[in-house]
Amino acid sequence: MAEKREILVTSALPYANGSIHLGHMVETIQTDIWVRFQKLRGHQCTYVCADDAHGTAIMLRAEQLGITAEQQIDNIRREHIADFTDFLIGFDNYHSTHSEENRQLSEHIFKQLDTKGFISRRAITQAYDPEKNLFLSDRYVKGSCPKCKAPEQYGDACEICNANYSPLDLIDPKSVISGATPVAKESMHLFFKLPQFTEFLKQWTRAGHLQSEVANKLAEWLDAGLKEWDISRDAPYFGFQIPGESNKYFYVWLDAPIGYMASFRNLCEQNAELDFDSYWREGSNKELYHFIGKDIINFHALFWPAMLQVAGFRTPSKVCVHGFLTVEGKKMSKSRGTFINARTYLQHLNPEYLRYYYATKLSDAVDDIDLNLQDFVGKVNSDLVGKVVNIASRTAKFIAKAGGELSANIASETLWQQFTTRENVIAEYYETREFAKAMREIMGLADLANEYIAERAPWTLAKDENRAQEVIEVCSMGVNCFRALMIFLSPVLPKTAKASEKFLNCPLHWAEPLQFLGRHRIQPFEPLMSRVDAKLVQKMVEASVEASIVSDAPKPAADLAAEKPDSWLQRAPLAAEISYDEFAKVDLRIAKIVNAELVQGADKLLRLTLDIGETRNVFAGIKSAYTPEDLIGKHTVMVANLKARKMKFGESQGMVLAAGPGGKDLFILEPHPGAEPGMRVM
Ligand code: 2FM
Ligand code: ZN
Repeated sequence: MAEKREILVTSALPYANGSIHLGHMVETIQTDIWVRFQKLRGHQCTYVCADDAHGTAIMLRAEQLGITAEQQIDNIRREHIADFTDFLIGFDNYHSTHSEENRQLSEHIFKQLDTKGFISRRAITQAYDPEKNLFLSDRYVKGSCPKCKAPEQYGDACEICNANYSPLDLIDPKSVISGATPVAKESMHLFFKLPQFTEFLKQWTRAGHLQSEVANKLAEWLDAGLKEWDISRDAPYFGFQIPGESNKYFYVWLDAPIGYMASFRNLCEQNAELDFDSYWREGSNKELYHFIGKDIINFHALFWPAMLQVAGFRTPSKVCVHGFLTVEGKKMSKSRGTFINARTYLQHLNPEYLRYYYATKLSDAVDDIDLNLQDFVGKVNSDLVGKVVNIASRTAKFIAKAGGELSANIASETLWQQFTTRENVIAEYYETREFAKAMREIMGLADLANEYIAERAPWTLAKDENRAQEVIEVCSMGVNCFRALMIFLSPVLPKTAKASEKFLNCPLHWAEPLQFLGRHRIQPFEPLMSRVDAKLVQKMVEASVEASIVSDAPKPAADLAAEKPDSWLQRAPLAAEISYDEFAKVDLRIAKIVNAELVQGADKLLRLTLDIGETRNVFAGIKSAYTPEDLIGKHTVMVANLKARKMKFGESQGMVLAAGPGGKDLFILEPHPGAEPGMRVM
């Protein structure tokens, strides 16, 4: 067993003015999987987060709701914690940046920066709302672009011609908050002298703390030259007052990352095993990992290491950057119903489905990941239900019948060796956040296990009393494969892993190399996971449209009428019309499936032997939904006069009919049991 590591992990702190949505969940799920993996490997890994509670937006939101900012952040924090908990995110602490720990740490760090001469003070002129008596950041001023005259542009840049300007340059500028015309007003601000850290940052960003694509992006910024960073805001502002200044507050982004430290300090106060200083002092031998999105790289890989360094703290071991979430290939959209809140998802679907789906998409790259709803249904049903859980459900019953004890004999050394040799590869993929690759490896092993079981067909062996021992051995092999798969998947599927522990009657550890579980009593198998119901996915999309209509400002009725969600269940357009005579040429026959078998080297196909009064060999792409033993003896409907086709694996002499969205949801037609093979269907 490798040395025990001590790792502190964070994910970005969500703002306290809005709900958690599936975009946030990419990051928390990614982080949680990594943390659970580290814990499973026996390391001490601590995962902290908090709400990012400060700033103008939160202050205005509270005002709009007629509550205090404190009430607003308390309500939202409770909501966020409930959402994350229900998504099985295992934070060790979830704090708030509006906390005493954060106030003290922020003041301390600021004083260090100031005493060491890294803070400058100078007056700047900004847009000011004379009705609200509030300085307006660029996003709070709108008007026409001074260059191309496009209306309704924000105060920093034009979305039409890309011109950059300051808010007071806009034609006919208006405060987004009150509608008043802003005036120019001067006020003194405090700046962090970031340019003085250029050399330090050039080195730090190339010292293995970042993915190379992130380091390259930063090199461009560093070469272009850094600017001093404005860290103060004028009252009224919801945040911490800057010590020694009157009516000045820390800009929300100054105290937000310090919130990571504050949350950890708060945890240390409750847990004597954790020592704040040993994690944060300069030269600490503990690891510090931040997981963030690509939009906040500058805060975490420039400002943050520079601040920490001046204040005498350690800098992060790694900043792990991920891309954004798109849904159905596009930016999340309220009107399409693809802006899905965490709670809306949870009201319809099992959190582990999304955890697994994201895992199959995540890598160490900064690329965006796409949630394709049809693919989501297909993958979860075919991989988790069809491959993994299926192994246990097909084998456990035979063990139970034979008394519930697994055999000590490894029935297939070859198969078991595949598992033991791949476990390190899988672990390495987890470690390097290549979750998609880890999932592919795991499903590859699940395929091997399923092929083994189908080949040895314990259901057939069980018919022969003399082969009872063989049945137990084959099924013990199956249960052991299932156990290994659940160990590998437990960072992704913590709830199913827990339920499997009960069935397997032993804890799922991964601190030592995999051991075969022999002469061990297991518990009766109970269904571990049900299939994704595609209709519920559609309902979730519809509910998301409704939620966005309720939460958004009133809109004209005509606008609402247009907001019907796309049905992602929709198939390709209908084919050209055919006449009855043409249809009557199709000879549909009842066929008895006399044999079904796997096709070596084919992912989707089963070879069916069909009896329609004569025998037909047909290849059907239904492996994702059926195992051979599900089919043998059943009846189906086939197109009997389809011209035989040469396929890679042999000749296919007809076609069976099936319906459904695909994956596990593919139903071959099962006519009335009295139907005779060869009977014409119409
Ligand atoms: O971008 C955001 O949502 C910020 N609230 C993230 C803060 S991360 C950390 F620095 F606090
Ligand atoms: Zn413009």
